[in-house]
Amino acid sequence: MAGGGFGSGPGTGKAYPGNLNGYVTFTCIVAAMGGLIFGYDIGISGGVTSMDSFLEKFFHSVYRKKNADTSTNQYCKFDSVPLTLFTSSLYLAALFSSLVASYVTRKLGRRLSMLLGGLLFCAGALLNAFARDVAMLIVGRILLGFGVGFANQSVPLYLSEMAPYKYRGALNIMFQLSITIGILVANVLNYFFAKITWGWRLSLGGAVIPALFIIIGSLFLPETPNSLIERGNHDVAKERLKKIRGLDNVDEEFNDLVEASEASRKVEHPWRNMLQRKYRPQLTMAIMIPFFQQFTGINVIMFYAPVLFNTIGFGDDASLVSAAVTGAVNVLATLVSIYYVDKLGRRFLFLEGGIQMFICQVVVAICIGVKFGVNGYAGELPKWYAFVVVLFICIYVAAFAWSWGPLGWLVPSEIFPLEIRSAAQSINVGVNMIFTFIIGQVFLMMLCRMKFGLFLFFAFFVVVMTLAVYFFLPETKNIPIEEMVVVWKEHWYWNRFMKGVDFPGKTAPSEVEMGIGGEGGHKNV
Ligand code: BGC
Repeated sequence: MAGGGFGSGPGTGKAYPGNLNGYVTFTCIVAAMGGLIFGYDIGISGGVTSMDSFLEKFFHSVYRKKNADTSTNQYCKFDSVPLTLFTSSLYLAALFSSLVASYVTRKLGRRLSMLLGGLLFCAGALLNAFARDVAMLIVGRILLGFGVGFANQSVPLYLSEMAPYKYRGALNIMFQLSITIGILVANVLNYFFAKITWGWRLSLGGAVIPALFIIIGSLFLPETPNSLIERGNHDVAKERLKKIRGLDNVDEEFNDLVEASEASRKVEHPWRNMLQRKYRPQLTMAIMIPFFQQFTGINVIMFYAPVLFNTIGFGDDASLVSAAVTGAVNVLATLVSIYYVDKLGRRFLFLEGGIQMFICQVVVAICIGVKFGVNGYAGELPKWYAFVVVLFICIYVAAFAWSWGPLGWLVPSEIFPLEIRSAAQSINVGVNMIFTFIIGQVFLMMLCRMKFGLFLFFAFFVVVMTLAVYFFLPETKNIPIEEMVVVWKEHWYWNRFMKGVDFPGKTAPSEVEMGIGGEGGHKNV
């Protein structure tokens, strides 16, 4: 099959002892809560920007268009550059701070990055809660963005380093789960706070709570053994590893960590290194996966669901309830992926999710197009019609939540070889943030210009990304990270870049040991 079947890898390679004990589970749950701040942000801005009291105070022209000026095309009533800047400035700030954070995380430890993330986020939340003008709002959003950059850079790394390798997939998706919980909590709070005149202050200020989680968590969480080794504390690191694995003898894993740390220290220019031909598949994926994740159009729903529902004729209350419903679907469907990701594999979820998203986008485009035409009209939708639109948006969100949502973070984190891992991960986060920013910034303008065609625009990208996965992404389920190179070597397209490339890590088995090319060879592509 072109690009890879659904077969799993050989399951060979090192099998360090150690299971999921209470200590490491608790530690990872606390750390994964770092995702809450990212999620809270994503979920809160849409509801706030549809609250009349907020618009009246800061974005008066939008407020006028929304409530009084019926001559304005329905699709365009929220089209305002400062308003979109309010939402999307955060992601630009996150892009820059994740680059700074990679230095702090490496040199000063994962916990310090998490702590800084929490503190910056807390400061931004307070500034927003007490905002008197647009400038205070935007500066607050930028501080929130700095916080998100630090947290998103350090939390997934922390989880991967603490987790026993067999549970890395599930623990990685816990980060995405807490993102979705953050979004849902924000949606629900918006619903209640919208009823209070200064409710937007509560919504924005509520971000202090998830910030406190990460601040307090980072003060008490243990540092990872990898980070301790990286900074020369070998003895403490060994004791820590014994505790998190629940074993007295961790020599094999410990020695490998020391070796890995030394090997990665030798690579002086990981950024330049990454341009070498042999890293072309990984570099392509580091750019392609986050780019496509954002071009599913998910953040149109996450940022602007209440605005969107309002645009297509829902009342204010109904818009916020519908947004909360999509938020709940997002959380539940993420649980599905935690269960299935290691059973059905990444490719299956990617392809199924893509087809499901495409169908929903076309249906929603037709529904909105038929009712509103190209000019839009401001009447209420019949109940059953509104129900169909919300239903298909929910089915679309579920598809994203068990495919591109978690896999958009999981797959990049497992395909990079150690010597370029941190640099490639920065590219992944950076590309994600820049396109989150772009979508956040241009969506309302696109809705105004492209109308229902906007949904077809994203549907087009979903087709392209599904084909790209089908042809170019090999299956990575059940393949130890150090052996990942084999999936590229056996791939019908990427193998041409891998000629003469052996396993980069000293600890990886050779091809002969794995039986590749011989009788025992597995064909996972
Ligand atoms: C994406 C976000 C998105 C969220 C929705 C994440 O994986 O990176 O952009 O808003 O999922 O749950």
